[in-house]
Amino acid sequence: MKVSQIETPALIVERSAFENNMAAMNRLLEQTTMAFRPHYKSHKSIDVVKRQLAAGAKGITCAKLSEAEDLAQAGVGDILIANQVVQQEKLGRVAVLANKTRLTICVDDARQVAALERAVAAQGGTLYVLVEYEIGMARCGVETHEEVIHLAKLIREQPHLSFEGIQAYAGHLSHEVDLEVRKSASAAIEADLTRLKKKLEEAGLPPKEISGGSTGSVELKPRDSVYTEMQCGSYLFMDGSYAQLDLRFENSLFLLTTVISTKPDRVVTDGGMKSLGMDQGAPIFVGYEGLPVKMSEEHGQVTAPGHKAEMGDKLRYIPGHCCTTINMHDKLYLVDGEEVVDIWPVTSRGKSQ
Ligand SMILES: Cc1ncc(COP(=O)(O)O)c(C=O)c1O
Repeated sequence: MKVSQIETPALIVERSAFENNMAAMNRLLEQTTMAFRPHYKSHKSIDVVKRQLAAGAKGITCAKLSEAEDLAQAGVGDILIANQVVQQEKLGRVAVLANKTRLTICVDDARQVAALERAVAAQGGTLYVLVEYEIGMARCGVETHEEVIHLAKLIREQPHLSFEGIQAYAGHLSHEVDLEVRKSASAAIEADLTRLKKKLEEAGLPPKEISGGSTGSVELKPRDSVYTEMQCGSYLFMDGSYAQLDLRFENSLFLLTTVISTKPDRVVTDGGMKSLGMDQGAPIFVGYEGLPVKMSEEHGQVTAPGHKAEMGDKLRYIPGHCCTTINMHDKLYLVDGEEVVDIWPVTSRGKSQ
């Protein structure tokens, strides 16, 4: 199948850029003491998971229980839900899953610890638990060392839970364009986590894992980082938002659209907001960089007086945010030049429970 035959709007992934990104991450992590448990949220595709595991990832991180269930179903033996699951109706499913795979989950409240213990005790087995520590993003996580130690002790007292360590994700820094700000904040987090680790050791609760990291922060970690593993996701694809950071990864993901109408001053395509995430800004129209873009539900248009586009032409966009964009599609077309070389279903599309 040729790229020109793909019905649009559709997502294409350029094979060489995708493979380069995978290799670049491996090279980067090989120079450190950190392992890799990449985040499923970015692609939600078991085909991609298989490639990440074959390339050396120790397991897979995800955000939601329903994603974790898909991963376990596909045979992934080490899954981290880097998130809290608190709804009573879901806890039985957490316990069932903990019997199928090595499952790790995050907590930031003593009531969660009690509820998870009850659920897992009913099924038997062990659930591995990270205490989420808030390091500046102002989302989930306890805010002091003392609270981390308190929860770690509580977890250790539960017969069916195992204290694994700390979840510390600095999402507020991932897209910080000022490199100096990213560097100094990263160093401060490293120092704080080192102090926390020492306190946990002194309390007889040494953390086995300190987990976190993103595409925008991974290269700022020291070789012997206090982090034991990284959870990066976007590095495989990149996007308009990450393009501003001058990272070592290249853009591999494009929304392929068809020009459906032209006027002397504008080009209109069939790719609108229903086929592309706009939460981190508008897409970049390849070939029309820097020109005003207007997006509506089913249309994307660029103001480009004197353009040469014709109805039926193909036009590529670089999405503003790869993760929310992929979640809008059933499949990813892997392409090499004009050839479609593979089609990867977005297995867990829409799995947000
Ligand atoms: C908890 C957590 N870990 C890791 C990531 C991966 O970040 P990125 O896709 O920027 O590499 C995210 C992204 O939102 C996240 O929420």
